[in-house]
Amino acid sequence: MTTKPVDKFSFGMWTVGWQARDPFGEPTRPALDPMHIVDKLAEIGAWGVTFHDDDLVPFGSSASERDAIVAKFKQRLTATGVCVPMITTNLFAHPVFKDGGFTSNNRDVRRYALRKVLRNIELAADLGAKTFVLWGGREGAEYDHAKDVRAALDRYAEAMNTLTSFVIERKYDLRFAIEPKPNEPRGDILLPTIGHAIAFIEKLEHSHLVGLNPEVGHEQMAGLNFTSGIAQAMWQGKLFHIDLNGQRGIKYDQDLVFGHGDLINAFSLVDLLEFGGVSGAPAYDGPRHFDYKPSRTEDVDGVWFSAAANMRMYRLLRDRAAAFRADPEVCEALKAARVDELSKPTLSAGETWKDVLSSDGIARFDVDAAGVKGYGFVRLQQLAVEHLMGAR
Ligand code: GCO
Ligand code: MN
Ligand code: MN
Repeated sequence: MTTKPVDKFSFGMWTVGWQARDPFGEPTRPALDPMHIVDKLAEIGAWGVTFHDDDLVPFGSSASERDAIVAKFKQRLTATGVCVPMITTNLFAHPVFKDGGFTSNNRDVRRYALRKVLRNIELAADLGAKTFVLWGGREGAEYDHAKDVRAALDRYAEAMNTLTSFVIERKYDLRFAIEPKPNEPRGDILLPTIGHAIAFIEKLEHSHLVGLNPEVGHEQMAGLNFTSGIAQAMWQGKLFHIDLNGQRGIKYDQDLVFGHGDLINAFSLVDLLEFGGVSGAPAYDGPRHFDYKPSRTEDVDGVWFSAAANMRMYRLLRDRAAAFRADPEVCEALKAARVDELSKPTLSAGETWKDVLSSDGIARFDVDAAGVKGYGFVRLQQLAVEHLMGAR
């Protein structure tokens, strides 16, 4: 008998713990104790919990307060079996970070931010986290003359190189994942999309230790196709972690339940993650991390209902994607659309540009006939949507 692999569903402590304060209104829910959050996540069947340093240990706590909280937290982890796959640092809430952490114009702030992250990396290693996420929400500007973007990128790279050197010298088994976002809270954030972040990472000293934590809503806020971005992140070997949630078009960061936004794109995403590998194996084996916000209208029961809804949506989409892949008509439509033919190299083994230029076959290629023939992509998409709707 083979044991069913666990679903690596994880939640940020700040997601279910969000008290629903927004720019227009007061919190609608009470604060939740981090230890209670761990218990409840275990109860709904989650696998992991993630957090910012300040979510667990309030900003400004003394060293002994910190140690006491961490000890209590470790006990809750052991008692519940919940793990900590990822940790992150809050470099955005305190007013000191109003112009950013690693890229603040104020050098003292930058040095303070680096130290805050280094301390938190020690905690990450202590708790066995394998990924350290960096979301630079305040790393940016509202006004073009206020930020020398090239200098800011130098400082961002300097910070990353310092962090990777630390991990290497301390021999920690930890990788970094940068989380792109186009805007909010800053008017424009540095490394706004998957593509920008990948290009930045290539310039780093220890780029093998730095990848991405893309978020569904963040790419969609920029009008981009998330599934396509994830495919490129995989192609670049940079999908280290993922933030799943829902977003409905180009607007503020909605952080809806996964699948409650662009459902068709969520379907293709789950299909890619779960069945996009070799011979239909999963193409990604890291945490399925939900970074959503229980809507402000919900009470505490609604918080736990919505948390469970994320996992249910993911499982439903996985079931639907499996049925889609198994449908003979879908296999035939994929073939007719030549989807598999794209995996065949354009040049044959040993060929060079010289063969392309001298090839009789290419010279005789009937461009008119090829231009007339359709690909049948709409039929394929109709089948996908019918599976998604449970109509097949
Ligand atoms: C946001 C971000 C954050 C980060 C978190 C982890 O838009 O607020 O998605 O939730 O994911 O800070 O670094
Ligand atoms: Mn977000
Ligand atoms: Mn996120």
